[in-house]
Amino acid sequence: MARIAVVAGDGIGPEVVAQARKVLDAVLPGVQATEYDLGAARWHRTAEVLPDSVLTELAQHDAILLGAVGDPTVPPGVLERGLLLKLRFAFDQYVNLRPSRLWPGVPGPLATVKPGEVDLVVVREGTEGLYAGAGGTLHRDTPAEVATEESLNTRHGVERVIRDAFARAGRRERRKVTLVHKTNVLTHAGSLWSRTFEAVAAEHPDVSTEYQHVDAAAMFLVTQPQRYDVVVTDNLFGDILTDIAAAVTGGIGLAASGCINPEGTYPSMFEPVHGSAPDIAGQGVADPVAAVLSAALLLDQLGHADAATRVSAAVATELANRAPGVPVRTAEVGDRLAALAAG
Ligand code: NAD
Ligand code: IPM
Ligand code: MN
Repeated sequence: MARIAVVAGDGIGPEVVAQARKVLDAVLPGVQATEYDLGAARWHRTAEVLPDSVLTELAQHDAILLGAVGDPTVPPGVLERGLLLKLRFAFDQYVNLRPSRLWPGVPGPLATVKPGEVDLVVVREGTEGLYAGAGGTLHRDTPAEVATEESLNTRHGVERVIRDAFARAGRRERRKVTLVHKTNVLTHAGSLWSRTFEAVAAEHPDVSTEYQHVDAAAMFLVTQPQRYDVVVTDNLFGDILTDIAAAVTGGIGLAASGCINPEGTYPSMFEPVHGSAPDIAGQGVADPVAAVLSAALLLDQLGHADAATRVSAAVATELANRAPGVPVRTAEVGDRLAALAAG
């Protein structure tokens, strides 16, 4: 039976993860879930973010389900870098998979888009780029202060994520990959990304391709999200574009993601795209659908395709039945989804 590590984390993380666990228990009875107490509370208590011993234990699971990390009482970056990014990097989760679709019944903000018309997936590079942490500060707190952040792009890292995007596109109906970068300004990394993209594209004559600069892609995601199938892009562009993709398909409360190590050398991690939402934490009003759909991605990754389909079908029913304007109650949604998915 699958062994899942659960890192509920901060803010609404525990609230939405509890619902995802209800749904997992409903579709995969006997699933072994082990909770790991990581995040702001532990940091305040012990000054630890992610002890090596915990990292070693996490590595022994089949997958990780994560809620959200980050808290206003902790300096920015301590948990985001020390916990979330550390896990993505340590477990070589280089495919950050972020699907977006407009579900029937969901009032998207765009009058021009009908349900079913948007069904895209962003394959965001997950271990390099500006997230690599290269850079530094000189002359801190003086008028001469200089801060640099360097974007790390390796041939190996770029090629493997582009290959994943093409392989995914080959399994989809429209078979199209859009490379998003900023080759007109970021000429070093941009050139590596586009040359690698062209080379991999040449091996996939059945997949159509296009290139867009990231500023244009941000615009087209709002004006014509229908045009996208698979989008492959670097770590930071993918971070920003997937919040936009979430917003145009009904909001961040519905957006799921998988941080995937395709080789299975390390566990993959599944988490909502959203953060800890301190503004609504503790109120029981966070939408758990993003966490539940992340659990569906987890099930798919672990080979439980039927269970994943039942979870998606439960979400489809829930969303189709939502009355406009009625606030979400986190635990009630979780109960309904678990009952629907159990069948
Ligand atoms: P956020 O995603 O937490 O919140 C942005 C807005 O979306 C808020 O108004 C919030 O209430 C709303 N929202 C988010 N999830 C929702 C849900 N499930 N249902 C309803 N509304 C929801 O982003 P932020 O405010 O920029 O960041 C808050 C903290 O979370 C920061 O510490 C940040 O670093 C961290 N963060 C963590 C992750 C993660 O763990 N993967 C992702 C993003 C941000
Ligand atoms: C996300 C988040 C993270 C990211 C932060 C919290 C490190 O915004 O998962 O999208 O930038 O990847
Ligand atoms: Mn983000």
